[in-house]
Amino acid sequence: MASLSGKVALITGAASGLGRASALLLAEQGARIAAADLNAEAGEATVAQIAAAGGEAAFFPLDVVDEDGWTATVTGVIERFGKLDVLVNNAGIELVQSIPETSFEEWRRVMDVNLDGVFLGIKAAIQGMRQSGGGSIVNISSVAGINGFSRQAAYCASKGGVRLLTKSAAVECAEGGLNIRVNSVHPGVIDTPMYQAFFDGMDEQSAKAAEERFTALHPIGHVGASDDVAQCVLFLASDASKFVTGSEMVVDGGLTAR
Ligand SMILES: NC(=O)c1ccc[n+]([C@@H]2O[C@H](COP(=O)([O-])OP(=O)(O)OC[C@H]3O[C@@H](n4cnc5c(N)ncnc54)[C@H](O)[C@@H]3O)[C@@H](O)[C@H]2O)c1
Repeated sequence: MASLSGKVALITGAASGLGRASALLLAEQGARIAAADLNAEAGEATVAQIAAAGGEAAFFPLDVVDEDGWTATVTGVIERFGKLDVLVNNAGIELVQSIPETSFEEWRRVMDVNLDGVFLGIKAAIQGMRQSGGGSIVNISSVAGINGFSRQAAYCASKGGVRLLTKSAAVECAEGGLNIRVNSVHPGVIDTPMYQAFFDGMDEQSAKAAEERFTALHPIGHVGASDDVAQCVLFLASDASKFVTGSEMVVDGGLTAR
């Protein structure tokens, strides 16, 4: 059984979807949670939910593309909780658009948040985890970091970047004797606010057809739930995965198996 008793976990994008689900589960398993996000109101709601369930958490305002913000956040987490054991690089944005429709600014924005943000997080966490004697970094990539999907070039490129950034960081940390493990998680389609945004502006019939297409991608017969991903994050964050580093864990109902 994976337990996070005594650990301190910093989770980005903790105000919504997979980040909030991971924050709640890791707290339930004993971790003290630093919930980071752009959205302070919803981030504070995650903290309140953890407190209501008897856990301990604090909100940290953070834009993951801001390097100084990362330094301040990791410093703040160590001041508040005494150490940093776990970083979940979860914050991310989606862009569904053909290549000709995509401006360079839109391409860059996806890269900034989804890839540069993870790089900055790893860099800041290594500093913090060194002081704590080691740790575990979990990067939320996607099946779109393994397979190509039409109209998602920027998103796929950013998530593919996270996949190999993870492996490179894992080898560097292990060979450097830092006692820091780094792994990526690759969810299939998961029912979160990001997924629900696909249906914005669609009439009922188009939304139903789109939902059926998403479902059909998964041999298991349905899209995933946030907790399905949170359970993988819990395993990789905990000492139960102490020999696991540089791995890519798919949680996709079989999507990438065919
Ligand atoms: N939902 C899916 O189907 C799915 C599938 C595969 C991968 N993912 C990945 O999982 C992660 C979480 O997705 P989700 O579905 O929970 O999305 P979501 O939109 O519900 O939540 C994302 C959170 O990230 C925050 N965020 C966005 N940009 C930020 C920034 N610059 N700095 C700090 N916080 C920022 C948002 O405020 C929000 O709280 C993302 O990286 C996403 O790409 C999602």
